Amino acid sequence: MKKNIPVEFQELSRDIQEVFLTQEEIHQRVIDLGSEIARDYAGKKPLLVGALKGVMCFLADLVRAIPIVVEVDFMAVSSYSSEERDRGVVRVIKDLDLSITDRHVIFVEDVVDTGLTLNYLLRSLQARGPASLEVCALLNKTSRRLVEIPIRYKGFDMPDYFIVGYGLDYGERYRNLPFIGILKPEVLFGKN
Ligand code: IMP
Ligand code: MG
Repeated sequence: MKKNIPVEFQELSRDIQEVFLTQEEIHQRVIDLGSEIARDYAGKKPLLVGALKGVMCFLADLVRAIPIVVEVDFMAVSSYSSEERDRGVVRVIKDLDLSITDRHVIFVEDVVDTGLTLNYLLRSLQARGPASLEVCALLNKTSRRLVEIPIRYKGFDMPDYFIVGYGLDYGERYRNLPFIGILKPEVLFGKN
């Protein structure tokens, strides 16, 4: 079933082939994830950790769906060359401000694709001795996984589409789309 692009975003959405998840669908799922986390972490003051920038919308909405004490921290990462990325090497541009030792940490991620980024970051966080470490991911690209990632809280499984919007970018654009859209393949392969 075709989902409509909000009229005021049609100009910015010229490179979008199709809406994958509407604002309403995302919102509903985020509310459910927040309730689940609030129930599981009552009294534990969890620390939610996000990797910038793709997670910005998801984390902002998620924390407002968790009505218990939480703290939030960010790291910023970037992959090196595509070959280094394939080997799972991640460059940490900004580390956490807070200590996670003995904390209940929830790593919040936008998309788990190959899993290489998250695998690297989780190992690095685990080495700091958190009381617990779980993953909350909005989107799970199941078919491209190279390393197994235990995802405790999952928004949606999805096929191998390249998606943008709701914080996710292509060349730093489209993060401000309120929905998640599938990018036209001709845009992705630079024929435009
Ligand atoms: P992985 O290391 O292959 O799991 O890559 C995960 C990271 O790649 C995510 O945190 C996103 O920032 C980015 N990514 C993966 N798939 C997409 C996509 O379809 N659109 C935008 N960014 C993506
Ligand atoms: Mg990311």
